[in-house]
Amino acid sequence: MNVIEKVSELRTWRRQPGDVFFVPTMGALHEGHATLVREARASTGGRVAVSIFVNPLQFGPKEDFSRYPRTLEADLALCESCGADMVFAPTADEVYFEDRSISIRETSLSRVLCGASRPGHFDGVCTVVAKLFNLVQPDVALFGKKDYQQLAIIRRLVRDLDFAVEIRGSETVRESDGLAMSSRNRYLTEEERSLAPGLRAALLSARAAWNAGETNGAALEALTRKEISLRCPLGAVDYVSAVDSHTLAPLEEIQDQGLLALAVFFGKTRLIDNIELHRDESKR
Ligand code: PAJ
Repeated sequence: MNVIEKVSELRTWRRQPGDVFFVPTMGALHEGHATLVREARASTGGRVAVSIFVNPLQFGPKEDFSRYPRTLEADLALCESCGADMVFAPTADEVYFEDRSISIRETSLSRVLCGASRPGHFDGVCTVVAKLFNLVQPDVALFGKKDYQQLAIIRRLVRDLDFAVEIRGSETVRESDGLAMSSRNRYLTEEERSLAPGLRAALLSARAAWNAGETNGAALEALTRKEISLRCPLGAVDYVSAVDSHTLAPLEEIQDQGLLALAVFFGKTRLIDNIELHRDESKR
């Protein structure tokens, strides 16, 4: 496996023929990331690239950029064991010029859900992902549905700016008790960690209600909130929203498709999760 820090070396690496499947990450890798890398490996006879870069642009002034976990050695070992051919792990200086003056702004999908309380976050994501796409020039890039809004925004980025890359979304990988894997789970206290799976349970209850005929968005949101307050007394809800799964626009009624998404604070740690509501999956 090649480990590349320099843009010039990456350009040379990219010149070899064959498809490239790409998994962008910020490191602190866990089984969720590993699954994306394995999926990439299983999907191509070409090369699998992973990037590890904690992108300062997507952290707000009060967010956890400086304390974001950095575990490069373990990350590289995991990438290698999952079949990655190359890891691009640049420094911030290598990625951003000090006097940079051009960036990407998203003006619709990023106004709701997580974007509403994280101004600028998705602009930072779009800017770094656009740069990584230009650097790695992947044929296919894989993103997790755990960050559903991010996935929807990346699809919009690729559509609106004509990137020649196919975006694939992968199912959320969970702990055995249902908690969505996240590098932020390590910040939870023992008590918070034991209650956090209640978020998934609340979303499953809402889906059961939807399957049983409750299609009203506000009613599904209220039910989810109630379940969270019962199961996660330590959690403070940031939002629970019923939205269209493509446009992320709020839905008054979820008929054939929709998404229930939530963010809940446990202390300073903000956890997110979501569940897709699709008629054909309702028999699961
Ligand atoms: P990061 O949080 O490291 O996530 C990298 C990728 O792993 C994303 O596509 C994310 O959705 C996916 N992922 C994380 N946890 C997952 C889980 N439990 N199940 C499935 N997939 C999971 O997302 C970012 O980094 C950054 O914003 C990035 C896109 C790299 C831009 O900086």
